[in-house]
Amino acid sequence: MNTSSISANGHGADWQYTMPVAELMEQQLATARVGDYTVALVYHKDQVHAIDNRCPHMGYPMDRGSVRNGLITCHWHHARFDLQSGGAFDLWADDVPTFPVDVRDGGIWVDVASTLDRVAHSEERLQMGMERSLSLVVGKAVILLEERNLIDRILATGLRFGCENRNEGWGQGLTILGCMASMLDGLPREQRALALSHGLAAVAGDSAGSARRFLVQSLPDTTDDLDLLKTWFREFIEVRDTEGAERCVVSAIRSGADGPFLMDMLASAILDHRYIDTGHPMDFCNRAFHMLDMTGWTETELVLSSLVRLVAGAMRMEESHAWRHPDDLIEILNRAFAELPAAYAEEGSAEPRETGASTLVETVLSGHPNEPALAVAACLDALRAGLSGEGLAVHICYAAAMRIARFHTSNEIGDWDTALHTFTFGMAVLQAYQRAPSADMLRGILDTAMSVHLDRFLNIPAQRIPTPADGPGPEEPFGERLNDLLDQQYRVNQSGQMVADHCTNEAGQNEVRAALKEALLREDRDFHTIQCVEAALTLHDQLRRNWSHCDWLDPVIPLVAAARYLAAHAPTMRAQGQTFGIALRLHRGEDLAVG
Ligand code: FES
Repeated sequence: MNTSSISANGHGADWQYTMPVAELMEQQLATARVGDYTVALVYHKDQVHAIDNRCPHMGYPMDRGSVRNGLITCHWHHARFDLQSGGAFDLWADDVPTFPVDVRDGGIWVDVASTLDRVAHSEERLQMGMERSLSLVVGKAVILLEERNLIDRILATGLRFGCENRNEGWGQGLTILGCMASMLDGLPREQRALALSHGLAAVAGDSAGSARRFLVQSLPDTTDDLDLLKTWFREFIEVRDTEGAERCVVSAIRSGADGPFLMDMLASAILDHRYIDTGHPMDFCNRAFHMLDMTGWTETELVLSSLVRLVAGAMRMEESHAWRHPDDLIEILNRAFAELPAAYAEEGSAEPRETGASTLVETVLSGHPNEPALAVAACLDALRAGLSGEGLAVHICYAAAMRIARFHTSNEIGDWDTALHTFTFGMAVLQAYQRAPSADMLRGILDTAMSVHLDRFLNIPAQRIPTPADGPGPEEPFGERLNDLLDQQYRVNQSGQMVADHCTNEAGQNEVRAALKEALLREDRDFHTIQCVEAALTLHDQLRRNWSHCDWLDPVIPLVAAARYLAAHAPTMRAQGQTFGIALRLHRGEDLAVG
């Protein structure tokens, strides 16, 4: 039917003739092709209805469903829809689009000109999917929004949702989202959507069943004395007064505190005690700041206040036996902290090679078991010799990565996390330091050095660091070979070797980076593995960009560490990727009901 004949029948250009109404009365359910749609036509209770024939859940043909009492039920997963409005009663399925119908001169006319704002609809669905923790719904919404280049809006939605809807505040879900966000660069489009879906589903899962969080208001007046707010904040955290501390953070933001000040304020309190909650609060804090960078600092009060409860309630290593006996590591660290201001210079005053930095990593890694003070003494010596604060932090993070690279498979599986916690804590302190450098912040790096020292049992025996094999490698792409390896259980050393073999040049390292991300996304979410891969990629990036003059810092080591850690935790069921795959196939218009 062309446009002129449509107009001749009294309809606008978007209306199309479908079939005689008498025929539909006989069939009750029929389909017609209208524009880009296959429309299901339904005759029910003396009315004609037109709906999209593709079930919004997983695409099953609606004309194979059944109609009763105003409802149409899809016969795949039995989602029920109101025939009149298309509204679903099973919210995981989404509403089915309906179309205006006109019955005229014995014929049925349908208008499929879409009035649906797909972006607005997807944003609504994303919110609903997170509220009900429906990964498929989240995946479908993210695919469309990512395709429209709305990554910042996706992240902002997840960030706001996680901070508002988890009474305990910032959690693992938001950290996973933050890690995923930081790994988006260079990923192909579909992988980006998968990474975001993983993060958002983790946020939703974290909030499920939790009470909503209500924000503490700022003080009635703003103040110029931000330092006093910072002092109060530390005092309140000291006595675990969450509300008082939260009010300080919100008031500082209202009073105009900038990013570096806020990082300094939060990190100061986190680092007032040793290695709290095995580093998680510091890592979460760093991640929150990165997320604010990516989303434009529009929800600063909501986001940063969400960290406070975690910090106030954290376990402090002062309370742990391992840090008190046989040597009192807290005492050793406190003495070292007293020397930090005199030893520290932000810029450094000498080339790293002249500061003893080339032996610092090995000293920290192999320090004498009965002399824990050696690790922190080596750090102070390097600072006094002119190593910059950032230089010290990078070296200690490298030592922490080396623990994972040398982790021996004779350890228990759970021990991987011990090495991982030290590494991610160090990386969080490094990045906090880069945002707000100070001698005070370096307390976290001395804590990391002490934790690396404590973790030395994980390298007894030590796994040999892989060296690249001679000659050309296999022709098969690296990513495929890594994936094949990760299909098998615990191919830890083989994965490390494969990375070392492939990282002989810049291009090889880039391929390894991409393959690690892809392999990570293929697995079900494991919080620590995600943290490890993200931290390793960050350190690798910093080493090759800024520290290539320190030839004792091999940028491949973090990649080896990440591959080994990933291999130790693969394969998983990969169910989450399968759910996303369904969303992707639906988005492409594939027929999932066909085998
Ligand atoms: S309920 Fe229709 S495809 Fe699942």
